[in-house]
Amino acid sequence: MTITLAKDVYYVGINDPGLTVFDIVIPTECGTTYNSYLVKGTEKTALIDCVKRSFAEDFIKRIEEIVPVGKIDYLIVNHSEPDHAGGIVDILKRNPDIQVFLTRSAKSFIDNIVNAPYKHHIVSDNEELPLGDKTLRFMVQPFLHWPDTMFTYVVEDKVLFSCDFLGRHFATEEIFDDQIEKSEKLHNAMFVYNSMIFRPFREPILQACERIKDLPIAMVAPSHGPVLRESWREVMEYYRGRAAAPMEKRKEKKVVVVYVSAYGNTTMMAKKVAEGVAAAGCTPVLVNAADVSIHKILDEFDESIGFLIGAPTLNSNLPHPVYSLLGYLVVLNVKGLTSSSFGSYGWSGEATKIVADIMTAMRIKVFPEPIRFKMTPTEQDLQTCFEFGREYAKTVGAQATA
Ligand code: FEO
Repeated sequence: MTITLAKDVYYVGINDPGLTVFDIVIPTECGTTYNSYLVKGTEKTALIDCVKRSFAEDFIKRIEEIVPVGKIDYLIVNHSEPDHAGGIVDILKRNPDIQVFLTRSAKSFIDNIVNAPYKHHIVSDNEELPLGDKTLRFMVQPFLHWPDTMFTYVVEDKVLFSCDFLGRHFATEEIFDDQIEKSEKLHNAMFVYNSMIFRPFREPILQACERIKDLPIAMVAPSHGPVLRESWREVMEYYRGRAAAPMEKRKEKKVVVVYVSAYGNTTMMAKKVAEGVAAAGCTPVLVNAADVSIHKILDEFDESIGFLIGAPTLNSNLPHPVYSLLGYLVVLNVKGLTSSSFGSYGWSGEATKIVADIMTAMRIKVFPEPIRFKMTPTEQDLQTCFEFGREYAKTVGAQATA
């Protein structure tokens, strides 16, 4: 079935409802789509983005229901992550005469996906490509969410191909938002996608929202999930709100004290650390990582001026929830932050050092020195926890007001 966005503007993407995890760490309980679009002008035809390589055969079939791949003149690469760029290899094999339009940054990635010479053109911001009765305008938008990203806008039809921006992982046969039932799952897909992919890119998001808010737009066609012809402005405001809110919240000088505890000893330490944080004039937020969803913890981190991690030692190592939490820090901008670790232990007590080493590898400054106590902390140990929290909060509180 051919899906038309506007006259001679087609959806040729692939539905992947069985996907449960995207990019190794992002849960996709509703699967996803790899959206690709075909724009046929009276003179030239352009394909906008491709699909994950494993779907290339079905993708090509879908395109050829509309036009032979051999008749495509241009391939527009809005973004070169392989869920969109993988299929380029198969398209270029079928038609090596296609000229690839892409940003300079995208070129370096595509070179290493194609691994062969190809015809290309590096676009500049606002450059236009005439297709006859249609015109493509390229809007370079770095860091949404890779350095390579751009939007493509069909001037005559007012269709904005926004790449990953304003997308969500949500498999759907009905590709338009107004055909899809509004559900918690649909909303949650937007929340998780925004949270896990776009969270670190506040400034580029705010800048993109400003850029498109007055652009005449009939619909926004992202690279994943529904094409937004009814709700693009609402989704844009959601992105804008999520990008702006943490900045406001940081004025509350929250410091997250996140921990896990097997027998309550690390909990005792965490509570004293939190008291120390409060004594330095910051607002402690105590979070037991075993009880709270990772999204909630990441939201708390985002809104805070710092965080401290409490981890007991299990068999010379870290408990799994702490490893998991540290792994999820990749979706935050943690480079240059200050943090530290604390914890109770039984035999050998490696956990606090392991946390500190991982922090150092993430270019987080470790301060104060991690603290650990064997089994149940004494009153004196707890006083040390208090001083640890106070010292930390004094430092990050001063940095936040500097
Ligand atoms: Fe959907 Fe950043 O790739």
